[in-house]
Amino acid sequence: MQIPPQGLGREDVFRSLEDFAGSDYDWRSGKCYAYTFDAGERAERVAKDAFMAFMYKNALDPTFFPSVLELENRVVAMAAAHLGGDAQTAGTFTSGGTESIMLAVKTARDYFRHRRPDIERPEMILPVTAHAAFHKAAHYLDVKVVPARVNPETFRVDPETVRGLISPSTILLVGSASCYAYGTVDPIPELGQVALDHGLLLHVDACIGGFLLPFFKELGVDVPDFDLSVDGVTSISMDLHKYAYAPKGASVVLYRNAELRRHQIFACAAWTGYTIVNTSVQSTKGAGPMAGAWAVMSFIGRDGYREIARALLDATRRLKQGIAEIPQLRLLGDSEMPLIAFTSDEVNVFHVIDAMSSRGWHIQPQLRLDDYRECIHLSVNPSNTEHTEAMLRDLREVCAKVKAPRGSKLASAVSATFGRLDPDRLNDAIFNKMIGMAGMKGVGVPEKMADINDIMNVLPPRLSERLLIEFVNRLFVQPGGDDALDPPRRRIRLPQGPPAHVGDLGSGSGPGPGPGPGRSSSTDAVLARLPGLAGAALDAARRIRDRLVDLGLPIPR
Ligand SMILES: Cc1ncc(COP(=O)(O)O)c(C=O)c1O
Repeated sequence: MQIPPQGLGREDVFRSLEDFAGSDYDWRSGKCYAYTFDAGERAERVAKDAFMAFMYKNALDPTFFPSVLELENRVVAMAAAHLGGDAQTAGTFTSGGTESIMLAVKTARDYFRHRRPDIERPEMILPVTAHAAFHKAAHYLDVKVVPARVNPETFRVDPETVRGLISPSTILLVGSASCYAYGTVDPIPELGQVALDHGLLLHVDACIGGFLLPFFKELGVDVPDFDLSVDGVTSISMDLHKYAYAPKGASVVLYRNAELRRHQIFACAAWTGYTIVNTSVQSTKGAGPMAGAWAVMSFIGRDGYREIARALLDATRRLKQGIAEIPQLRLLGDSEMPLIAFTSDEVNVFHVIDAMSSRGWHIQPQLRLDDYRECIHLSVNPSNTEHTEAMLRDLREVCAKVKAPRGSKLASAVSATFGRLDPDRLNDAIFNKMIGMAGMKGVGVPEKMADINDIMNVLPPRLSERLLIEFVNRLFVQPGGDDALDPPRRRIRLPQGPPAHVGDLGSGSGPGPGPGPGRSSSTDAVLARLPGLAGAALDAARRIRDRLVDLGLPIPR
């Protein structure tokens, strides 16, 4: 695909964008319990206007756009005041939780490089519930992860377990407030004491909980202390694009003082270009997210956030109660957050998810890790709150109808065939076979999520990781061929055919949107699951295949 030789014109451009978006999940529907945090149309409009007003400004050079420096300082100051900071607190605006976490890990690594140059391979102790972003940071920064088990009932880490894992190479302890998977808060004051006893740094991952928990506390929820006011906490991360409802690309990382933050900052004078000194991973850094975050926080205000928190709290309590009353389901942990995890000892949760999906609900699978069971996760956000009863009704009906037991023959077969293989020694042919067995047909998006989840659920984590990489490497297929010169005005074609077992449940029987004209309910189910522009990628892959057939060339398998 090339850049169009002549510009398309505004209308064509926007029609195409609308076409692309036609296959996205309707995140404003209130039926989506993941990925998006939606405080309603008024807040969204403020965020959008503020974002657009600053989107071309660049935080690369804080002296060039003083307004951007001012915005960052104000947003970080509001975050620090929200999280028990004081006059010493120093922070940075980042693009998201992952970047905040990566910076906190880099800061810890470089702080100890300076103080303890004898440590060859630094280690950080992570509860198994800590976000994958820490593993990513470890991978990028060559820090070793030392995993700490959490209590299988409460899903909180035991500070004495952490103490027992400390070695001469330990630099950083981590606690979550809350963890994503179960919404539970680790015992931060006790972890702080362990950190102080051993002269270690302690990062609190409050990416998802940091903004909301103080409001829950004001509403009387028993939330343990977790912020910078706790002795021993040296850094904390909080996302604004989650429960602060800022547009995506907004998070902060805070340190106890600027002395610590110094280790985060990167400067380079060893090239021929302009002066480089970056506080974050990004160098050129759009000011849109900062302006959006500042505008939304200022617009909603503490009163507004408290009211939203109240609605979330009520909805979460009702959802937990309703789920506990569904005979096939069992809640996992007792979250402090509007994050709910539940599993089943009777039915296959992945089939429950597919069946809910066919009724228009998006709920998230979480895979097994060792003896922590596979489960379903809900991130409740304001737009969900008025759908609570409908959601519970569908969940109850679906659980009664799903016949599939835990695990599947297919998963056992894949596990038996491939489970013991060394992921580093697998070749393309084996991956293609695995992908084929999982119902992912070479290229494109999978049609049977339950089967795929069942398989991923039984594979050793390293093999799952390899399979995911292979799958995504096949998913992002860039458009090619002459027809790619056409303005993309076609509707994106989507995979057809019933997803596994959804057909067994009867179609569109719930109060969901039902099939659209000319579309089967199973197509709707696939639609509901398609991530972003995956349909476009599939479309492109098909066009490449057609082109190869035209040219009489062999089709790669
Ligand atoms: C606890 C926690 N930490 C970190 C992250 C990563 O944030 P992001 O997706 O913004 O990089 C998340 C995301 O959900 C999270 O819940």
